[in-house]
Amino acid sequence: MTSPAIRLAGVRRTFEAPGGSTLIALDGVDLEVAPNEVVALIGPNGSGKSTLLRVIGGLLTADGGTVEVEGRAVTGPDPAVGFVFQEPRLLPWRDVLANVALPLELAGKPRPEREARAHDLLRLVGLDGFAAERPTRLSGGMRQRVALARALALGPSILLLDEPFSALDELTRERFDIELLNLWQKTSTTVVLVTHSMTEAVFLADRTVVLSPRPGRVVATVPSPLGRPRRLADLGSAATAAAAAEVRAALGDIRAMSADPDPAELAAVRAGTEDAT
Ligand SMILES: Nc1ncnc2c1ncn2[C@@H]1O[C@H](COP(=O)(O)OP(=O)(O)OP(=O)(O)O)[C@@H](O)[C@H]1O
Ligand SMILES: [Mg+2]
Repeated sequence: MTSPAIRLAGVRRTFEAPGGSTLIALDGVDLEVAPNEVVALIGPNGSGKSTLLRVIGGLLTADGGTVEVEGRAVTGPDPAVGFVFQEPRLLPWRDVLANVALPLELAGKPRPEREARAHDLLRLVGLDGFAAERPTRLSGGMRQRVALARALALGPSILLLDEPFSALDELTRERFDIELLNLWQKTSTTVVLVTHSMTEAVFLADRTVVLSPRPGRVVATVPSPLGRPRRLADLGSAATAAAAAEVRAALGDIRAMSADPDPAELAAVRAGTEDAT
């Protein structure tokens, strides 16, 4: 049996909330992701999706439980893990090529090697013609592709994507979804993707994992009925709609549960109400 690419067991993460109280973002999260699997994470706002991704990527430490990537305990960022944030976070004063080459520069690769690699990556995401442009001259979708190329620079075996398509219009997003699937096939990576779109989750992933409201934990897993490779026509298929409805039902069930009240949030709401009266 192959060991999982990602293994989380009983993961807990808390934050200090204003006023000295403790906010439990994640509690008791168990999740295993197989090599080459694509998993979509979906859940209400504040259910800890970004926190979970950061814990897997070694950008945040867990307060409890185990976090392993390819059998190693996660202690910090790992070159085997690529991360794409919700905002592309490109350096505006560097051109596109230099942005993509940044991780290679930090890894001490010589200039000819990193530039050749960055050109290859830009070709992979269909942007080689824009290597000399500043990021500000690109559209939002193009910037996200640059961020994706940068995340692939060190040849990660695991890719963590935090709502990378949320800022794109629907048509661009569909094209991006297809591109991501093509890329996934070419690079054979394990992918964990956060999305708010139930259809996108079913279309892209092998299974969709539903998180509860805070504190986030896994409350349902919905397998995708779609085979590989996937085609754009699968997006509108009855099978996709049925699985998306299953995800929706799981989210609907948890909407009825109450999140633990955040004292700071409550105080702000009360203050707002008093102001209004
Ligand atoms: N650095 C931080 N300091 C304090 N609280 C934080 C921090 N990061 C996250 N939180 C809190 O942890 C909870 C989970 O946040 P997180 O960003 O992981 O949720 P999410 O599921 O990604 O939400 P969204 O769908 O809005 O992106 C929230 O209540 C948030 O306020
Ligand atoms: Mg988030």
